[in-house]
Amino acid sequence: MPANSLRVIHDLTEWHQLRQSLTGTVGLVPTMGFLHEGHLSLVRAARQQTDIVVVWIFVNPTQFGDPADFAAYPQNMAQDLALLQAEGVDYVLAPTPEAVYPPGFQTEVQVRQVSAPLEGAFRPGHFTGVATVVAKLFNLVWPHKAYFGQKDAQQVVVLRQMVKDLNYPLEMVVCPTMREADGLAMSSRNVRLSSVERTAAPVLYQALQLAQQQLTAGQRQAASIKTQMRALIEAELQTAQTLGVTGKVEYVSLAHPQTLEELETVEGSALISLAVHLGQVRLIDNLLIEA
Ligand code: PAJ
Repeated sequence: MPANSLRVIHDLTEWHQLRQSLTGTVGLVPTMGFLHEGHLSLVRAARQQTDIVVVWIFVNPTQFGDPADFAAYPQNMAQDLALLQAEGVDYVLAPTPEAVYPPGFQTEVQVRQVSAPLEGAFRPGHFTGVATVVAKLFNLVWPHKAYFGQKDAQQVVVLRQMVKDLNYPLEMVVCPTMREADGLAMSSRNVRLSSVERTAAPVLYQALQLAQQQLTAGQRQAASIKTQMRALIEAELQTAQTLGVTGKVEYVSLAHPQTLEELETVEGSALISLAVHLGQVRLIDNLLIEA
């Protein structure tokens, strides 16, 4: 089989047999599909760094708390496969929910402390859904390297902890957040933004930049920085409100990058992160400030 021909596998038993015959380093890119440049940046890193690139496309029901959010999650398998073919991907694993969670399925992987704050506080069970499906995926694929985006900063922290705690023999590779020209972090959910919402959406990144500027200027009080970030976002939400869009800030955080505990004063590294609702769409973004 030529190196650049993409094979799409739906049957996990077939994949299991195939995996045993593969030689060389394997790079895994887990996704929920509807691929954009952010996903493709992970695929390109994997293509450069490993011999065999495996992309997982599966909208994982167990990580969605809200059934409406799951139902509205965009999908376009034909377009995804065309993009991955063009990137020289070797295998796409695209199982059905029944294949991933057959009747009688009853095991969960819970990473306790680091799953609790931030996203975990607003999306109960989300990271147990993520950790369980990624653990299954690691067991299915035996990757040498697994590629994740900094866009989902807490997901990276949770999965790093899982890799450490469960002795997965693999390297986690974290790639930078890819953004639109106006700073909006790329996300499969962005297509659900109305034009008014899309106009307001860059305020997340502007708030992160404001925090970064404050830190650079010597501000150390996290509370002061968070107040200013909220004020900036709320001003934008007011404008959107006059155009008929309701929005709300879910959280604004300056946290320790490894423990994810809130900081009172920022002396070293910090993870600045936030979640904002714009209409029906929930957006997240973050900046990692290294000491
Ligand atoms: P999904 O949201 O499809 O994202 C797949 C990967 O792409 C994640 O590692 C995510 O951080 C990365 N990514 C998304 N947007 C990005 C951007 N703008 N720049 C760089 N990387 C970006 O994350 C998931 O799926 C799921 O939770 C999953 C790990 C697949 C488990 O179901």
